[in-house]
Amino acid sequence: MKLVSTEPSQVLASRIADALNASVVDVKFSCFPDGELYLCANGLDEDMIIVGSVVDSDSLVQLVLLIDACEGSNNRLVIPYMGYARQDKRFRAGEPVSARAVSRLLSRGIDRCITVNIHDKKVLSYFDIPASDVSLARDIGTYVKDMDLDDPLILAPDEGTAAFGRQVAAAGTWDCDHLEKTRISGDEVRMAPRALSAAGRPVVIVDDIISTGATIATAAAMLRGQGASDVFAACVHGVLTGGAFSRLKAAGIKDVVCSDTIERGCSRYSAAGRISETLLQ
Ligand code: R5P
Repeated sequence: MKLVSTEPSQVLASRIADALNASVVDVKFSCFPDGELYLCANGLDEDMIIVGSVVDSDSLVQLVLLIDACEGSNNRLVIPYMGYARQDKRFRAGEPVSARAVSRLLSRGIDRCITVNIHDKKVLSYFDIPASDVSLARDIGTYVKDMDLDDPLILAPDEGTAAFGRQVAAAGTWDCDHLEKTRISGDEVRMAPRALSAAGRPVVIVDDIISTGATIATAAAMLRGQGASDVFAACVHGVLTGGAFSRLKAAGIKDVVCSDTIERGCSRYSAAGRISETLLQ
């Protein structure tokens, strides 16, 4: 069994390979003088496991090129972070359903696909091949357990993420809630846990994606005001755009951690275990 990956997913791919006792293929990545991407994989097998997060448009092109380089008929694709998935419907006339466009593009030459905490599971139906999603909620729960916090409150940023929060909290049978926004005035919003109090205890805000960090930064400042002893943020996909990590630290968050679906300095838990389990099924 052999794995091949795009540049942004090299470390995760090698962790998956280790878990599967497989080897990784050496790929040369470069650019033509006009900026077009080029790659050449050395030692591909007939059927490959291809690993590539779509973190930007170049990584999408790299993944398309890599899939084309793999000529087998039984290739499996792992998309640890699937960018473009959030445009999962046509919000306004004239817009594409980007998630569908990308899913179709990445289905060609692939037998089966695995994603990780995809923005919405309905995106899986956009692939032209069988696609399944794995969740890192339990892995985040294990990480929180290792933090050894005293009576932490696990907090999801909104109702839509509440189920994810409950799955994280199940790892330690901790209290769990989600944030509720209350409009105080035209330009003032209060954010607080819907039912429980944050006073005097550490709070871990958990989300699938931290992008700009705006929601969590605002929530963290308010939670500190409500007496939380410490606020932490943990997510699956650390998109961390526009200085998000610094914004979150400046908002008083003690630590911000993510998985290696996007390889970051603050990647503290790996998606390799869940992905390799699923590949073996
Ligand atoms: C939304 O659907 C996601 O779960 C995240 O809450 C969202 O992407 C976070 O965005 P930001 O970090 O920009 O507030």
